[in-house]
Amino acid sequence: MARHIRMIDIICKKRDGKELDKDEIKFFIDGIVSGAIPDYQTSALLMAIHFQGMTDRELADLTLLMAKSGEMVDLSGIKGLKLDKHSSGGVGDKTTMVVAPIVAACGGIMAKMSGRGLGHTGGTIDKLEAIPGFNTALCKEDFIHQVNEIGVSVIGQTGNLAPADKILYALRDVTGTVPNIPLIASSIMSKKLAAGADCILLDVKFGSGAFMKTPESAVELAQKMVSIGENNGRRTAAYVTSMDSPLGQNIGNALEVQEVIDVLRGQGPEDLIIECVSLAASLLHMANKGDMETCRQLVRTSIENGSALEKLREMVKAQGGDVSVIDAPDGFSKAGVCHELKSREAGYISGMNTEEIGIASTMLGAGREQLDSVIDPAAGIVIWRKIGDRVDKGDVLATLYTSRDELLAPAAERYYGALTYSSKQPEKGSLVYAFVDKNGVERL
Ligand code: URA
Repeated sequence: MARHIRMIDIICKKRDGKELDKDEIKFFIDGIVSGAIPDYQTSALLMAIHFQGMTDRELADLTLLMAKSGEMVDLSGIKGLKLDKHSSGGVGDKTTMVVAPIVAACGGIMAKMSGRGLGHTGGTIDKLEAIPGFNTALCKEDFIHQVNEIGVSVIGQTGNLAPADKILYALRDVTGTVPNIPLIASSIMSKKLAAGADCILLDVKFGSGAFMKTPESAVELAQKMVSIGENNGRRTAAYVTSMDSPLGQNIGNALEVQEVIDVLRGQGPEDLIIECVSLAASLLHMANKGDMETCRQLVRTSIENGSALEKLREMVKAQGGDVSVIDAPDGFSKAGVCHELKSREAGYISGMNTEEIGIASTMLGAGREQLDSVIDPAAGIVIWRKIGDRVDKGDVLATLYTSRDELLAPAAERYYGALTYSSKQPEKGSLVYAFVDKNGVERL
């Protein structure tokens, strides 16, 4: 007789700490996508998973079933090893826009689908759309054609990529179940498996601006995701990097694209350069372009000889964007209001609550406060003082940009509240903490 599975039994089984079998997980995923399982039962199971965890076998089944709940993108029309990179989410994280053209300039193939901003974190698609005319919604044929022609394209995720994740994510967002290792691992990796790349490089963030607050928990998340990817036949590795302060100096969509152009011109902030060089070199290494040192050298050369910037120009042109902003970044839309935020205290900056700084940028209009909020591409923050810097009263900490005067004061207060000071110079934490692949964890 066919087995009769009930959602209430699945919830109770997980509540009591038992392992769900594959049929039960399939019943759950099919039921949320078809609408047969109501949100309150899904929410109850999410909370049970939050407290009881999942075994590696359960996590593998859950992730693959989530991936298969929608389209499994077929990239076989692209010649060669397809590379993908993904950040678990941060503030000022514009690494994809730096790394993708570098990798393509060095002969790698970046066929990348990216997301929009989520909560206090930014998203690559919103940032690219700050380039006038840039089209992030290419059809699959045009995407594949572009990658075959110039080696790189970055587009938004197709509507039907892992629909189970969309439903689960929306419920997690409102039930306190976002910062959970198996739920984050299955959410990210279901989309990566469905997006079809052969090699996946993850950038797992920890710290005050990340979902994982400690490096240890980020390493654990990285290990789970690497094992899911490898068990599904994808070469997968992860860097574990700090989000204890925003990455680089600029937060906000057009401001971040300007900083990307700076880095590709051989300028730009040191932390962003260090992280981008490691990510790009690892992708090239995964694509068999040489040992790590050779790949680092390839990356540096592509910046020095201008080929990476030229590749960005090619990508922008191919996707309908206005390339003139690359040579004259003044062509980006300007914020009507610009305010220098002056320090009210003297001392060393010892902490930056990065989530709060991300929220301050959102409050200026750079992110969404509601699902249908319209992003102001010119809004955001340029940071002049970071952890370890000494400031006197009245020194400029940051410049805030917005198009609406009334947004300035609350965002400024939020920024002030995010900073802590000390009388002694604090030690700088490590930016790139560890590297994880199928051979284990390397502490850097
Ligand atoms: N990014 C995702 O796609 N999912 C998560 O759960 C967290 C970050």
